[in-house]
Amino acid sequence: MKNNNKIIAANWKMNGSEELMKEFSQLTRAKHNEIIICPPFTLLDTAKTTLPNFIKIGAQNCSEEDKGPFTGEISASMLREKSVSHVLVGHSERRTLFKETDDVIFKKVKASIRSKLTPIVCIGETLSEKEANKTLQTLDSQINGSLAKIEPYAQVIVAYEPVWAIGTGLIPNENEIKETHLYIKTKLNQHFNTDIPILYGGSANSENCSQIISIDNVGGLLVGGASLKKHDFKAICNC
Ligand code: PGA
Repeated sequence: MKNNNKIIAANWKMNGSEELMKEFSQLTRAKHNEIIICPPFTLLDTAKTTLPNFIKIGAQNCSEEDKGPFTGEISASMLREKSVSHVLVGHSERRTLFKETDDVIFKKVKASIRSKLTPIVCIGETLSEKEANKTLQTLDSQINGSLAKIEPYAQVIVAYEPVWAIGTGLIPNENEIKETHLYIKTKLNQHFNTDIPILYGGSANSENCSQIISIDNVGGLLVGGASLKKHDFKAICNC
């Protein structure tokens, strides 16, 4: 992947406002040409009318169902109607706080593909799994559980986010990122016919982004906290 062909995705989580979206409307084309902003559902309309066209819009979650009596849920097809092109699936906060299993994540990946959204499927080990030397085992079972039964030609993005690195300021060292990304790539290549981009996520910021993004098999970044400040996000898009 060429160096300016990386994907920079912003996960605003339950943050942001109309005001912040207005600030982001001033973003101009950056070095990395695939920029995706995932605001909360309530800001999707504003994102569509406010953000410059080169920025793609993503959601942070979708239902595994297409429609029906599921109070409070939002389907992938409803997101598609809002000009959403991407959706985060299986973020570690959803796995932990909302008890999403690999099977639920698999169904959400399928639902998003049915509605022509590109799922950004998040995987990553917890601190205790890392300490028990079970990182690759965890990635293996998350990929098997959520992606192995997806059509091999489907368009999917994977985000490797070590849970212990999210929002902590800690990041794996270069060799660790190299090893996990190579492992994920090799495993995905056994199943998918297309090249699946693998993003790194977890405490990525404007200072560490160029180093992380230049590591082999890192196809871009999924950025949480640092994506909420226009200045920092702009720097990351140009790193
Ligand atoms: P962080 O979050 O960049 O704040 O660590 C990343 C994420 O949760 O996607």
